[in-house]
Amino acid sequence: MNTIYNDPSKSPKERTKDLISKMTLEEKIGQMCQIDGNENPELWLKERNIGSFLHVIGDEAIRLQKMATEQTRLGIPLLFGIDAIHGHAFHSGATAFPSQLALSSSWNPQLVEKVGNITAKEVSLTGLHWTFSPVLCLARDIRWGRVDETFGEDPYLAGSLSASIIKGYQGKDLSHPESILACAKHFIAYGETQGARDASESDVSERKLRSIFLPPFKDAVDAGCATFMTAYQAIDGIPCSANKWLLKDVLKNELGFSGFVVTDWDNTGHMHRLQKTTSTIKEACEIAIKSGNDMIMATPEFFENAVELVREDVVSESLIDEACFRILETKFRLGLFDHKRYPDTKKYKIFMGCDEHRKAAYDAALESIVLLKNKNNTLPISNKFKKIAVIGPNANDPQAQLGDWSFGPRYYPERPTLEYNDYDISNIVTILDGIKKRANSSFEVFYEKGCDVIDEKDKNIKTSIETAEKSDVIVAVVGDTIVLNGETRDRVNLDLTGAQLELLKALKDTGKPLIVLLINGKPLTIPWIKENADAIVEAWNPGIEGGNAVSSILFGDYNPCGKLSISFPKSVGQQPVYYAQLPGWHGGSYADMEPEPLFHFGYGLSYTNFEYSNLKTSKKIINDSEDLIASVEIKNTGQIAGSEIAQLYTNDIYTSVTTPLKELKEFKKVFLTPGETKTIEFKLPLLSFSFVNRNCKRCVEPGEFEILVGSSSKDGNLLKTIVTYGGKVQEF
Ligand code: NOJ
Repeated sequence: MNTIYNDPSKSPKERTKDLISKMTLEEKIGQMCQIDGNENPELWLKERNIGSFLHVIGDEAIRLQKMATEQTRLGIPLLFGIDAIHGHAFHSGATAFPSQLALSSSWNPQLVEKVGNITAKEVSLTGLHWTFSPVLCLARDIRWGRVDETFGEDPYLAGSLSASIIKGYQGKDLSHPESILACAKHFIAYGETQGARDASESDVSERKLRSIFLPPFKDAVDAGCATFMTAYQAIDGIPCSANKWLLKDVLKNELGFSGFVVTDWDNTGHMHRLQKTTSTIKEACEIAIKSGNDMIMATPEFFENAVELVREDVVSESLIDEACFRILETKFRLGLFDHKRYPDTKKYKIFMGCDEHRKAAYDAALESIVLLKNKNNTLPISNKFKKIAVIGPNANDPQAQLGDWSFGPRYYPERPTLEYNDYDISNIVTILDGIKKRANSSFEVFYEKGCDVIDEKDKNIKTSIETAEKSDVIVAVVGDTIVLNGETRDRVNLDLTGAQLELLKALKDTGKPLIVLLINGKPLTIPWIKENADAIVEAWNPGIEGGNAVSSILFGDYNPCGKLSISFPKSVGQQPVYYAQLPGWHGGSYADMEPEPLFHFGYGLSYTNFEYSNLKTSKKIINDSEDLIASVEIKNTGQIAGSEIAQLYTNDIYTSVTTPLKELKEFKKVFLTPGETKTIEFKLPLLSFSFVNRNCKRCVEPGEFEILVGSSSKDGNLLKTIVTYGGKVQEF
């Protein structure tokens, strides 16, 4: 058919306009529907003109795409979405990267972009087009089940990394066959629910929303993110998918988001079924359309209800056209109408999980690992110890190692088990595999599982002790596991589960040096470990190459440089313990515990030491015509080369509303050889000194500002200087 919409020389806008003019109401509403690919796809394709499936994988994607493009009236291609959250990890053989939380400990935007890029390539090799990533929720109450999916607690760090991963996914040109759509989610304040109960209510004022939660999403819009996903929960009583102000006024109009908004899973149905804000599903569908959702995920009733709502004149067809326009224009921009993006089997064989991709996963894990303690240089192991006891439930557990959103699309609501899918685990290098490989014949390695992560009774402490006793050093690999993380898996207790602490205490009693290696989705309350272990290595969910990366660090082949993107509490009762607290707490402490976290945001050790000095600014008076440059000298005062992540925080000392006593505004990673000193510079536009005032406007007020630079957010680790803004209040 010779039509404008089939003509690749026309712009996506022209083609979309032409196509929409030829579509029936049912065809347009069909484009707004997204359904799980396992739920009668033929019916949805033939009778409902569906626009998108999620969680379809492999040959099924090709089959359905052929049906859509060859057997429907207008041949509109389908859009396939998948939760490729840390690599295409549902797909056996793909490169599973460290979790998003782990990646954020690298504070390395280039590395995160590369991860996005490889993920996009592997997703596209399987004929899919869209990942529901990145998660831009902030993990400020870590009882929440989905902390592992976030870039940590800080809006600036999360925003910087989100822009990078989006660039990685979407490439320079969306129509490139290896670019995929990114999806900024969950819009908005989803990590901030009451008691960290997943998808409950967030009590967030507009000012707080604009101060803390909106900035990373703004960064995503500015990076060109093609899609946004609404959050499950309600804010001030209004479900996020029912919030017209949020979706239309703020996201689409104010931030200028030009892609399309997809709801989260059955958000539309939830308004009626769970949140009870509409007495019928039909009313929920009406609200979803009127509020600015463009694609409706997993609410099967939407199709018929939406058709009726338009026929009954309750919803104007122009709203359907608007939503459909955004979706179809995105499909055109992706090039879906022109090259269909069927997987190329030859390329698949060459690139899926290839060595180059694995190398990137290894590099990502190296930079994501955080050294939390190293008493008397217990680490690295090399040359000091010959017999190594590797003990603990997470030493040889591929599932705990990869974490959530891996092992096939069986993530919810079932408990994921390996038996239920055909995921090939043989290419996952577990911690034990990695240590054994690196130890080679130069070290003897003994292994005991010791105990289970969950079941307190499933333990073998006695044999673990025997194993430890015949060794020179113990590497105890503990943490959490997949059933303790993820959607619906919030926790009231963040202590080590099962008999893990009992195991550690028994190991400690042997008197052997105790290195604790943590494999976990989120910070745990581990004061005993901090006190008693000789060394602590936080490896998070380090991905497919985790074992190799961990052993490179343990044996000293690589000098660790990760820093925490999230604070560790001492006790669950300290929640929230994020660093950017507001002032005003009477006494500033609990009656039974000081407020200090166990480990601070931004903290992480190296096998060398760094010294900060000479913090200077290019001027003492700031203005809006020229950026302020802050500089600091960093010296490697140790014996080996290493990288340091320098952090800059600002504090507007007096503000017309309460603001945090420090907020991250810039960071830089610098590599230094022994004895080397480098001066690094941070560029600070006036906006870096801004906050959101009571009119909900970002502004700078006159007065004095602290500039704090150092190795972590902890006061003692920061140098300080003061600058002044003498101008008028400036609103942005
Ligand atoms: C629900 C989750 O909240 C969201 O993050 C995910 O992308 C969708 N389901 C699709 O799996």
